[in-house]
Amino acid sequence: MEVRVVCADITKFEADAIIVNLFEGVARPGGATGAVDGELGGAISQLIEAGEIRGKLGEVTIIHSLGRLPAARVAVAGLGKQEQFDQDKIRVAMAEACRALRRLKARHLASIVHGAGAGGLEPATCVQALVEGSILGLYRFAKHGAKEHDEAEVEVLTVVTRDEAQVPPLQQGAFRGKVLAEATNLARDLINQPANYMTPTHLAQVAQRLAEQHGLECQVLEREQMEGLGMGGLLGVAQGSRQPPKLIVLRYRGNPSSSEDLGLVGKGITFDSGGISIKPSERMAEMKADMSGGAAVIAALGALAQLKPRLNITALVPAAENLPGGSALKPGDVVTAMNGKTIEIVTTDAEGRLILCDALSYAKKLGLSPIIDLATLTGAIHVALGDLYSGLFSNDPGLRDKLLQAGEREGERHWPMPLPQEYKEQLKSEVADIKNVGNRWGGAIIGALFLAEFVGDTPWAHLDIGGTAYMEKEHNYLVKGATGVGVRTLIDLALALAEERS
Ligand code: BES
Ligand code: ZN
Ligand code: ZN
Repeated sequence: MEVRVVCADITKFEADAIIVNLFEGVARPGGATGAVDGELGGAISQLIEAGEIRGKLGEVTIIHSLGRLPAARVAVAGLGKQEQFDQDKIRVAMAEACRALRRLKARHLASIVHGAGAGGLEPATCVQALVEGSILGLYRFAKHGAKEHDEAEVEVLTVVTRDEAQVPPLQQGAFRGKVLAEATNLARDLINQPANYMTPTHLAQVAQRLAEQHGLECQVLEREQMEGLGMGGLLGVAQGSRQPPKLIVLRYRGNPSSSEDLGLVGKGITFDSGGISIKPSERMAEMKADMSGGAAVIAALGALAQLKPRLNITALVPAAENLPGGSALKPGDVVTAMNGKTIEIVTTDAEGRLILCDALSYAKKLGLSPIIDLATLTGAIHVALGDLYSGLFSNDPGLRDKLLQAGEREGERHWPMPLPQEYKEQLKSEVADIKNVGNRWGGAIIGALFLAEFVGDTPWAHLDIGGTAYMEKEHNYLVKGATGVGVRTLIDLALALAEERS
């Protein structure tokens, strides 16, 4: 979708549909919505009076302009209560409005800037959210076998402002929104791809192509190199599958004169059957999404290469398939991680931590700091926080707060979780330095404590996206299936860190 920002009068603007808005409880709309209402002979106010438009968040009312405006239709998007307004409401409203208009086969949409003036938000921030909500809400995974252009798509979104001076900052906001949302959709595409297509080898090729496209450095470590490095965890998980493991390394050099390097690590299990500790067959298909963390860090690097913060960033994605082949890891086996720690495999289904511990050790070896990892690590985090909050674990309160703030700005919700040292007891093994699971309770915490063993005192944060990476049903701008969660938080954090250092 093409995004434009222009200075014009929305009542005179030619498009298939124009989008205006309404806060809940407002009887007579003002501003641009008021002007459109005037042209429509008061149709919007009459519908409000009749109780047919209420301004509830996500409500969309489509009115035909019957020749009173150059645009054939007007969509009135509800923004909810003014006192609860923030930029995320703009995303929700735009996702609903854009989808409603796409169903009517509208190809060129124009929107006023929602929320500029309300809630003290910068107009550029409002436009960023407006563009994000539109692109995220309109996302569809291209079905295998479907012919292209089977269904109508929105081709152009024009953001219309009356203030000429606002055009450059709004263009900036629109660009940022487009890059962030498209990166999220790229991650969604990679995650939604069936696992027979999205193998570790394929994921590595995607990373390589992205690197060529945006001028990133890409390096893919093969099995022999992993053997040389002693990555017994990653190699162990991969040994049950015919698909060779890959350790994908993507580098963005935004500040070559600095030795500082932000590390992003993403779990890249392209299918998690559980291995010999096999999962129940019900909903096992969703385990194609077990590379959501890896997809997110790859997509985030592609976006950062376009946004060009003054900062170095290295992404690491250990990628493997967890299958119960003839040479698979077995419960009771012991492997040695890259840092020399021995690990007793109690269950082969706790494989994420086995590949991540080697990636984290490698991140330390490369001197990356801080290190942030993203992983669909546990089902327990889904039980604890549901599907809208990711679990955020960190050994550094400052880093944790920055991630919470980045998530807040980008509409991704994370919830701080504890790392109680007492629970480490549970990871004690009688045959190795550590075992890969504890008892039944607090599974997400145990997973995080396991990872913490491999980062030492390097500032580190772990986002467990086991509940948030994949949605069973549509939830406003999160469509069914992969959400691409984490992409926007990581990009926003990198931009904020660069800003802070300049
Ligand atoms: N990939 C799963 C976690 C998961 C499950 C993510 C469902 C999203 C939805 C992970 O590898 C796993 O199987 N974890 C186990 C850990 C347990 C064996 C300690 C789990 O959560 O059951
Ligand atoms: Zn598993
Ligand atoms: Zn897994």
